Amino acid sequence: MLNQEIHDELVAKFEKQYGEKPTVVAYAPGRIEVLGNHTDYNEGFVFSAAIDKGTFFAAAPSADDVVRLTAGDLMKEVTYKLADCAKRDEDTWQNYVNGTFHWLFDGEPAKAGHGWKGMFLGNIPLGAGLSSSAALEMCTALALSKLYGVEKDKVTLAKIGQKAEHTFAGCPCGLLDQASSLFGVKGGLVKSDFRSCTFETVPLGDKVAFMMVKSNAKHALVDGAYASRRKACEDAAAFFKGKLRHPVTHLRDVTTAEWVLYKEGLDETQAKRALHPIGEDERVLLGAQLLDKGDVAGFGALMFDSHESSRNWFENSCAELDTIVDAAKKIPEVYGARLSGGGFGGSCCLLVDPAAADKIAAAISAEYKAAYGDEPTCAVIPPSEGAHLV
Ligand code: GLA
Repeated sequence: MLNQEIHDELVAKFEKQYGEKPTVVAYAPGRIEVLGNHTDYNEGFVFSAAIDKGTFFAAAPSADDVVRLTAGDLMKEVTYKLADCAKRDEDTWQNYVNGTFHWLFDGEPAKAGHGWKGMFLGNIPLGAGLSSSAALEMCTALALSKLYGVEKDKVTLAKIGQKAEHTFAGCPCGLLDQASSLFGVKGGLVKSDFRSCTFETVPLGDKVAFMMVKSNAKHALVDGAYASRRKACEDAAAFFKGKLRHPVTHLRDVTTAEWVLYKEGLDETQAKRALHPIGEDERVLLGAQLLDKGDVAGFGALMFDSHESSRNWFENSCAELDTIVDAAKKIPEVYGARLSGGGFGGSCCLLVDPAAADKIAAAISAEYKAAYGDEPTCAVIPPSEGAHLV
């Protein structure tokens, strides 16, 4: 469904449910992660882009202290009093919204003074690694800050969404998904530095495009694999802090050369985990130079390297994603391919010649079908505008 159609459907459903029009509507897109995997919480670098699919959030104020929230696809409503805004075990979709509302008011939602009616609807495929949850948080954050006249900059809003993930959804994520949704631009990449929390945009041109290939392997980051990877990175950073003669707070501060020289004494699994974000940071910085020179093939090669590093060191790939990347490698019009996002399922991001998109999708689908019996979903993704009020 087109984004405009989703918007119109949401507004119509809102009116039917609440008997009035929304006073504010906000939109936030999903994201693709292009290069730089699991670097955000290591204070490193990432290339990402906002995608052309997203979520709308419509809201209107209430005179009483009650929140009424409806998932527009299920038409399921939950209600609670301001002071009872909390993490819930049922209808868990509400946690992304409730968590964002809770932290928008610094953990004291009763301070909002009055309640609201809200409804959301979007078209980001769930479990695809395209950050549908961050999109929901960011459209909630934009809509409710407008509704209450709360003024916060984009980095603060991104951090509010991240806190909602940590405390209400149970995923200790970095800031990548929320920041990409907010800072995305049409036709460009977002280059993020998660130490300084600065976000640059880099034009991509129309000679290349991204293709997302969604495997049918389920992607869930709250089952502990993501958290254990993050912990291994933090432990490895603490180890290098004790070994190196310059300040180390995160793996951002360690180079591959230092890893080679000083990894002895680090537990074997931790050593493997650490090498991935360290190498990814180096690949993003090199990739930026290559993009500057217009070297798309060079940039794409770094994407293939990134996937190898996921496969061998971070072990956050899976057979289905490996099949997609291996199939992509054989196609000359694919410049690069890698898993995108947390991993353990979800989607691969391919850098492709857009003129060959159909041929690429057919070749990859055929190999995937031969291996697993079903087909992946392939879609050309134009880097698109970031979150905004409608
Ligand atoms: C998920 C997390 C992000 C980031 C990526 C991996 O998408 O939500 O914060 O860590 O995985 O790069």
